Amino acid sequence: MSQEEADLEARLEEQDTFEPPESFVEQANVADPGIYDEFEENWPECWDQAAEFLDWEESYDEILDESTAPTYRWFTNGKLNASYNCLDRHVEDGAKNRAAIKWEGELGETRTYTYSDLLNEVNEFASALRDLGVEEDDVVTMYMPMVPELPIAMLACARIGAPHSVVFAGFSADALATRMNDADSEYLITTDGYYRRGDALDHLSKTNEGLDDVEHETTTVVVDRLGTELEHSLADGQHDYDELVDAHAGETVEPVTRDAEDMLFLMYTSGTTGKPKGVKHTTGGYLSYAAWTSHAVLDLKPEDTYWCSADIGWITGHSYILYGPLALGTTTVMYEGTPDYPEKDRFWEIIEKNRVDVFYTAPTAIRAFMKWGEEYPERHDLSSLRLLGTVGEPINPRAWKWYYEHIGGSDCPIVDTWWQTETGGHMITTLPGICEMKPGSAGPGLPGLDVQIVDGAGEEIDAGQAGYLTVQKPWPGMLRTLYRNDDRFVSEYWKEYSDPEADEWVYFPEDGAKIDEDGYITVLGRVDDVINVSGHRLGTMEIESAVVGVEGIAEAAVVGGDHDVKGEAVYVYAIPEDGREGQEASLEEAAIEGVIDSIGPIAKPEEVIFTPELPKTRSGKIMRRLLEDIASGNELGNTSTLRNPEVVDDIADQVGGN
Ligand code: WTA
Repeated sequence: MSQEEADLEARLEEQDTFEPPESFVEQANVADPGIYDEFEENWPECWDQAAEFLDWEESYDEILDESTAPTYRWFTNGKLNASYNCLDRHVEDGAKNRAAIKWEGELGETRTYTYSDLLNEVNEFASALRDLGVEEDDVVTMYMPMVPELPIAMLACARIGAPHSVVFAGFSADALATRMNDADSEYLITTDGYYRRGDALDHLSKTNEGLDDVEHETTTVVVDRLGTELEHSLADGQHDYDELVDAHAGETVEPVTRDAEDMLFLMYTSGTTGKPKGVKHTTGGYLSYAAWTSHAVLDLKPEDTYWCSADIGWITGHSYILYGPLALGTTTVMYEGTPDYPEKDRFWEIIEKNRVDVFYTAPTAIRAFMKWGEEYPERHDLSSLRLLGTVGEPINPRAWKWYYEHIGGSDCPIVDTWWQTETGGHMITTLPGICEMKPGSAGPGLPGLDVQIVDGAGEEIDAGQAGYLTVQKPWPGMLRTLYRNDDRFVSEYWKEYSDPEADEWVYFPEDGAKIDEDGYITVLGRVDDVINVSGHRLGTMEIESAVVGVEGIAEAAVVGGDHDVKGEAVYVYAIPEDGREGQEASLEEAAIEGVIDSIGPIAKPEEVIFTPELPKTRSGKIMRRLLEDIASGNELGNTSTLRNPEVVDDIADQVGGN
């Protein structure tokens, strides 16, 4: 490191507020600080501004209908089609030759789809889906890696009014079956395989294993990613994607008119209890919110090349690889692989090659980049970047500053965006052309949102104290319900702080947070049994039930422990059944396998710690907090309230490195 760099580093370390650069402000989509007051004074009519990003076949008669709260209805009786809004209108407006998707395959191959290419293939596949029998409102599942056919399939579904349900390709066969069964989904789009660090992975066998557990008849379309002869591997009821598209070459399908409140998609996510929840998002509210936040927060312009490194299998990919950017007519980059293949500079190579303007990634990735060292970004010209973003978990100030300096060249604002699968789009973040930035703090709630930090009784707390995050007014991108489970929708999100008698509804996202004098919010993490591993949301109860399903394990508790790259990692504490003592090594292997089989490799336990007993309170409750502290290597507080304090030292001794 040169003296100059060392000085800069030392200065950054001290600095805790950062102003957006003048050059950014001058060109920002949103630069007038008056937007906060304007939205507050003019609520809910202010959300008209989000709806205006879309073309409506019939305009709505009311912005917000609160009569069925907490199931709010937005843009009532408005009619539109999401695929028309992401494709046709751009082609009609003269952007047909602009790149819509620039795809980077892991092995180095690339594919560019202009808006007109994308529209054509979406039309052809939509026509094929109709031929296979897909009707409006049928849920179509996608179990696909990051190949262009995934967004094509999603938009084809949107075109014919069939909600999609995308299952992350890294999830297990079990997870696929659970979701298809829950949604009664009779159609599945998948691939034969995909590449990870150069190796071809067999995805079709995993798919078929999942399909064996689906309780109804299914029709499957398989995309040939590996270039092997597909027809040999297809079973009855399975179709080759390329053949279907060829058979429908040149065909077009009129975009189906959807009501604003009609479901655009379902996305399953983890919650407190074992079963994943099907979050329902709508056509009008979700799409306008994705578009508005892409404009206001990500500052996207049609001529931008934008890259979000998330997987489309998560909400971030839905809102900010596909729907938001394409609604705005932007070029969106899509990368199939991992950041360290073939080398640890792959991301920077992609940014340089595509002249990426705006880049959006997760803190876990930034922490890995920091560990690898700045020599990797230094190999590349990253001067095309204008704005950086992060999402998925809290970002520590050190990682923020590293990102700011080494990726942004100390010249790009960073938006640290807090939001959830359920919120559809960004909720808490600075507006990059307006707000000063404070590393580690996401920022204020967006204009039009009423975000408050409250204590256990729902009273707003003072600056500096930790409390619970709440959202006290509805917003267009919010989930409408949990699929076929309205009761659970109310009990999961609206029970804690609402007053149903008074018809006052408060959304509780189950995150802890604190707020400072300037209204900047630092999100502290989940307060329920959900953990966040590398920005992936996992339910500890789901993992626990996989572990206790293993023969030879009597009881288990799963918690999250701090991890310097992943943010949190999975720790399993397990009691072997009587007579299994001494078999810990094989039980550990079985436990890890059990978790991978039921959820996927992302939930793989960091450690499995065997213990004859779990620490319990006198009333018999497992002390999870204490197990978390042990896993994180924290000081252990008073253990005298335990029924069995002696087990604590035994367990702590076993946990690696602590
Ligand atoms: C966490 C991902 C701190 C939070 C978009 C939330 C964050 C959960 C941030 C949702 C952030 C997301 N700072 N924590 N900027 N962004 N989270 O549904 O705990 O996969 O509740 O949505 O991620 O995860 P989900």
